[in-house]
Amino acid sequence: MRPKKRFKASQFIDLIESRLTLYNIFESPPKKRQAPASDAYTFEQRYNIERKLGQGASGTVYLVWDQYIKRYVATKLSKMNADRFMAEAQSAGRLKHANIVSIHDASTNGDFCYLTMEYIAGPDLGKFCDKDHLLPLKRALKIIISICEALNYAHKNGVIHKDIKPTNILLDQENIPKLTDFGITQMVESTLKFGIFGTPSYMSPEQLKNEVITKKSDIFSLGCVLYELVTGQKAFEGDNFFSTIYKVIYEEPTSISSIRQDIPPILEKIIKKALSKEPEKRYQTCLDFAHDLGIAIPDLNSSGSGNKVKGLINYVQNLPFFQKFTESQVKELISGCNIIKVPQDKIILAEGDIGDAFYVILRGIVKVATNSKDIATIKAGECFGEMGCIGGQVRMANIVSVTDCILMRIKIIQIDELSDLIQLQFYKSFSTTLCRRLSKSSSKTSRVMKKSGFVKAH
Ligand SMILES: Nc1ncnc2c1ncn2[C@@H]1O[C@H](COP(=O)(O)OP(=O)(O)OP(=O)(O)O)[C@@H](O)[C@H]1O
Ligand SMILES: [Mg+2]
Repeated sequence: MRPKKRFKASQFIDLIESRLTLYNIFESPPKKRQAPASDAYTFEQRYNIERKLGQGASGTVYLVWDQYIKRYVATKLSKMNADRFMAEAQSAGRLKHANIVSIHDASTNGDFCYLTMEYIAGPDLGKFCDKDHLLPLKRALKIIISICEALNYAHKNGVIHKDIKPTNILLDQENIPKLTDFGITQMVESTLKFGIFGTPSYMSPEQLKNEVITKKSDIFSLGCVLYELVTGQKAFEGDNFFSTIYKVIYEEPTSISSIRQDIPPILEKIIKKALSKEPEKRYQTCLDFAHDLGIAIPDLNSSGSGNKVKGLINYVQNLPFFQKFTESQVKELISGCNIIKVPQDKIILAEGDIGDAFYVILRGIVKVATNSKDIATIKAGECFGEMGCIGGQVRMANIVSVTDCILMRIKIIQIDELSDLIQLQFYKSFSTTLCRRLSKSSSKTSRVMKKSGFVKAH
C-alpha cells in the first residue's frame, strides 16, 4: 500500500484556497486528473475540489468531484477533534431518509477531518429567512413537515440533531428539503464556551443552560426556523451573543400576528407551542408537530382567496349557532376545523358510534333516524353529534343527509385548543341548542300525553 501523503492542516487549507484562486482566475474547472488504479486513495487523489460552497463554525464545505465514484459530492473539512467528528459522522451516517443528506465517507487527513456527503444543488433555507424573499406560507409549512418527518425518523433511531437552523436545511433541484449536519454542534461545544460559536438563536433553553437535551430540543429549534420562515426575522435575536441567550431563556418572541396579518391564528398557536420554554409544554414528538401543521394547511389554501374566506366567515357568523360569536372568533374557529361536503342519503354518523367530533350544518338538511323511523330533521345553522362528544355516549340513531350538505367538522380536542372565550361561547351555544331540543321534545311528549288522555287540556 502506498504511504499516504500527509499534510498539516494549514498546508491543506492553503492548498485548497490556492486552487480555488486559480480556478477563479481561469474561470473554467481545472482538468480532472485520472483516478489512480489502486483503491488506496489519499484524499488528494480521490477528491478534486471545485469550489467553496459555504463556511460554517464547524468547518468549510466544498463542492468536490469524487474521481473514484465519478460524482459530485459536498465535502466538509474541519479541524475539529477527530474522535468526536467520527462519532457524530457514524451516528448520522446510519440514517437513511429521503429528507436527510446521506453521508458517504468520513476520515482524517493529517490533523484534518473530512466528511463527504450527498451534494445538494439548491439553496439552504437561510435564503428564505429574509423579509423580501419569504416563501409562500404553504410551501414553508410543507418544508417544515418534511423536516419533522426526517427528525422523527432520526429520533426513533436515537439520534438528536442538536443544530437545527436554516442553513442546515437544504433544498435539492426538485425542491425536496434535506436536513444536514447531524450532531455537529457537539463538536463545537468546546468553542461555545469561548464565545466563538456562531449564533445561539436556534438553540433550546435547556441546550443553552447545559441541561439534558432530548428530542424536544430539536422541536424548539425547528419552531425557531418556522418562525423565521414565516416572519423574516429571528424569534430570538439580541444585540450580542449573551443578550440572545437571555432572550431564548427568558423572553417570548414578538407575536407573529403583530408582524404579519395574513397568518392564520392556528399557525401562531402551533409555533408558540413549539417554542415553549419548558420541553414538557412543547410538542412531544415531531409527528405531533407535523400533524398540527397539516391541519393549518387547508386554512392556508383558502387564505389566498381572501374574499372567499370573508364570505365564509360572514356566512358562519349568521348561522344561529354562531350568532353570538365575534368575527375574529369565527375566523379562529374556521382555521382549525374541516369543511366537508356530504352527498344526499349518506350516513354521516352511525348508530352505535362514539363520536370524537361534532358538526355544524353550513348548508343542507340532515335527519336523525333509526332503521325503522325518522325522529327529527336538523337544518343549516344547527349542530349535531355534540351529545356523543361531550358525554362520550354511544349514538342511539343514525344521522343521514337528506340533501347534499356542507358541514363544518370540529373535533372535540380542537375545542380544547381554542381560546377560553371561544370555548365559553361554544358551550353556551351547545346548551341553547340542547334546551331548545329538550323543550321541543317535552312539548311533543305533552301533546302525546294529552292526546292519549293522560293530561287534561286547559
Ligand atoms: N451537502 C451539501 N450540499 C450542498 N451545499 C451544502 C451541503 N452542506 C452544506 N452546504 C452549504 O455549505 C454552507 C456551509 O455549511 P456549514 O455546515 O459548514 O455551515 P453552517 O451550517 O452555516 O454552520 P455550522 O457549521 O455551524 O453548521 C451551508 O450554508 C450550505 O449552504
Ligand atoms: Mg451546516
